[in-house]
Amino acid sequence: MAARRAVRASIENAVEYLPVESRETIAERLGVPPEQVAKLDANENPYGPPPAVIAALASLPDLHLYPDPDQRRARAALADYTGMPAERILLGNGSDELIDLLLLVTIEPGDEVVVPVPSFGVYLSRPPLFGARVITVPRREDFDLDLETIEDAITPRTKLLFLASPNNPTGNLVTPQQLSRLLRTGILVVLDEAYYEFAGQTLAPFAREFENLVILRTFSKWAGLAGLRIGYGIFPPHLAAALWRVKQPFNVSTAAQAAVEAALADRTWLMQRVLHVRLERGRLYRALRRYPFLTPYPSHGNFILCRVHDGRAHQLHAHLLQHAIVVRRYDDEWLRDYLRITVGTPEQTDRILAALDTFR
Ligand SMILES: Cc1ncc(COP(=O)(O)O)c(C=O)c1O
Repeated sequence: MAARRAVRASIENAVEYLPVESRETIAERLGVPPEQVAKLDANENPYGPPPAVIAALASLPDLHLYPDPDQRRARAALADYTGMPAERILLGNGSDELIDLLLLVTIEPGDEVVVPVPSFGVYLSRPPLFGARVITVPRREDFDLDLETIEDAITPRTKLLFLASPNNPTGNLVTPQQLSRLLRTGILVVLDEAYYEFAGQTLAPFAREFENLVILRTFSKWAGLAGLRIGYGIFPPHLAAALWRVKQPFNVSTAAQAAVEAALADRTWLMQRVLHVRLERGRLYRALRRYPFLTPYPSHGNFILCRVHDGRAHQLHAHLLQHAIVVRRYDDEWLRDYLRITVGTPEQTDRILAALDTFR
């Protein structure tokens, strides 16, 4: 007997984005060992976590017990790191999970979510799954926010405004003046600072003054822990209470919680690697400017967006792939002509440049 239709229409109609593949999958397809693949498509950190994290993970106690549902020690460490009260901090299984939880507690069917584009694809793909309509607002030509158009897009149905600073993939920052003006609209602003450590600038202090600001952060980028899935947010108290009510009790594993503590105890090690990446970002940016078929954009993140001239972005992506270098390509209307390159090690930069030298 045929099954009754079980899947919601909003899921059946969901837009599919270009899939991200694991390094092993790519290596298998290319017929090379995984270590040979320069994976520069997901803004991961080539230096990984400090040795103290590996040591903590190797001696985790009590794995037969569920993790602390209150995330007490990890939140205390994050309170120390951020200077915000632990009561306002909640960890997620990646900041991706926190985005879903935010949508879960705020969206009523037909609500709207405003997203200046281009930006992180998750802001576009997830809201419709919760019944929200996404209202996209184009950025200016230099990718700066267009405040008037954002304000015009806000209606009585607007629930959330997603902003990233530095923005993925364009690399530019939200200014304090821009944030302050947008917060004064009264809309709940989700300010995603996934790449904050590479920028060295934060707007988190605004969260002390404004009850309509959420700050999201992650350990996937600066802390080299993408594989453990650790995100956290600083939430206004009313929202924190709602999130605690709906989160799965054991959403962050024992390993992830221990890694937060160990990583934050060795910030000096991590920030040294962040500095390496920032220096390499400068070198890669200057080198990319020399290719007549590319326009790289200045970036405060650990990635550089490049416009590829003459509609050849996908060709260049394929060319780099032949050299076992994977960068991010796009098929949406805003970014079809662009590639985003994660800043890796100096050796990886050398490989990119050698491959670009042979692009015809
Ligand atoms: C702006 C932004 N926010 C969030 C994330 C996801 O972070 P996490 O690994 O913590 O889910 C990313 C990852 O690419 C990102 O670019």
